[in-house]
Amino acid sequence: MTRPRRVFALDLGTTKVCCAVAEADGTGLRVLGVGAAPSRGVRKGAIIDIDRATEAVAEAVEAAERMSGIAIDSVVVGLAGGHITSQNSRGVVAVTAGHREVRGQDVNRAIDAARAVSVPSDRKILHVLPQQFTIDGQEGVRDAVGMTGSRLEVDAHIITGANTAIANIVKVVHEAGLDVDDLVLQVLASAEAVVSEDELERGVVVADVGGGTTDVAVFRGGAILHTAVVPVGGSNVTADLAVGLRCDLDTAEAIKRQFGHCLQLTLPSDAQVTLKPMGYEEPIDVPQRYLAEVIGPRGREMAGLISAEIDKAGPAGLFPGGIVLTGGGALLRGFAEVIQQVTDLPTRVAAPESVSGMNDEISGPHHATVVGLLHWGARINLKGRGIRNGSHGENSNGHNNSGRLGRWLRELF
Ligand SMILES: Nc1ncnc2c1ncn2[C@@H]1O[C@H](COP(=O)(O)OP(=O)(O)OP(=O)(O)O)[C@@H](O)[C@H]1O
Ligand SMILES: [Mg+2]
Repeated sequence: MTRPRRVFALDLGTTKVCCAVAEADGTGLRVLGVGAAPSRGVRKGAIIDIDRATEAVAEAVEAAERMSGIAIDSVVVGLAGGHITSQNSRGVVAVTAGHREVRGQDVNRAIDAARAVSVPSDRKILHVLPQQFTIDGQEGVRDAVGMTGSRLEVDAHIITGANTAIANIVKVVHEAGLDVDDLVLQVLASAEAVVSEDELERGVVVADVGGGTTDVAVFRGGAILHTAVVPVGGSNVTADLAVGLRCDLDTAEAIKRQFGHCLQLTLPSDAQVTLKPMGYEEPIDVPQRYLAEVIGPRGREMAGLISAEIDKAGPAGLFPGGIVLTGGGALLRGFAEVIQQVTDLPTRVAAPESVSGMNDEISGPHHATVVGLLHWGARINLKGRGIRNGSHGENSNGHNNSGRLGRWLRELF
């Protein structure tokens, strides 16, 4: 039995900042504390005000410290935003002469060759995720180590982000008095929390619908095929409703959560919502179907954008596991049905599978990212890690990954 180790995660979202502390012992996670604060200074995943964002992070971290009684000094941080891009790359190496068996170091060299893809100087590689290996022309090899051959190729999915956007997130975390253990694309973390190994194998799409962005990741054969950050989320729905109802954003948000729906015809024609639009003296009744009339087009637009990203990875038939929706935006009524209609893929809303301890505080689709970050933190070898002053420290190669995605999502800085 491994000695329990503490892991700390920070999800710096557009609408909320969430910090969690857990103990990992090799068999699972036990959550010891969770803290959340309304997000400030973050827009569509990118920092727009360092001081305000720092304040929000400090608030969430303090709350998690209070609840757990544990001082938090470093965190695994989730990253998203329109600056994230992804591409596929191939690395080729000769298997070290003298032995014709592929060793771990050959795999690392192949991955290094794949990561040597040209990336503009203003971008940083966040993840290099092997998809499959090819040995002497034989494609589709999952685990190359131990195989016999002389030429080793790897297909890898490379995720990059803008240096400045990454540096700003790291700066916020530092200013809040913490070190960064690792930076993880938010949707990879969410996937870790909500999909099974079997689904990853058969083909599945994870869409994390947050406040400012909808992050998509497409998996098949246990590997990641495509990732994208779509700059539309639940806040757009709220903003549309505020315009349609001529009310402020807080009112629109509350009405959306309580009465919002994407599908007009599923609502009774006589259902009414009472509200007081700006400039009105008295409250008025608005048909609930009118809310759906406003929300529906945005829901269909978002579904179309998700569908377009899935198309980039391949035809829908390749993903029989369907779409797993997570993030707070997934709670919008009728949204899963709209996505199902637009993509023709079975769609379900998922919350993180239960982790022991604090289940109420950390349940719900909007906690998928922070729970996934805890899993990620439990898996990485933190020795020699740490991102100080925005530069990555020595890394682990992640080959000892034991998490659900660990076998394939070998994360290599
Ligand atoms: N019951 C609900 N019905 C509809 N929408 C909801 C509900 N609860 C939360 N939301 C929406 O979920 C969104 C916030 O989701 P979440 O907490 O996952 O975002 P975030 O992680 O802060 O943002 P991001 O991931 O984009 O940076 C908000 O737009 C909010 O309106
Ligand atoms: Mg989020």
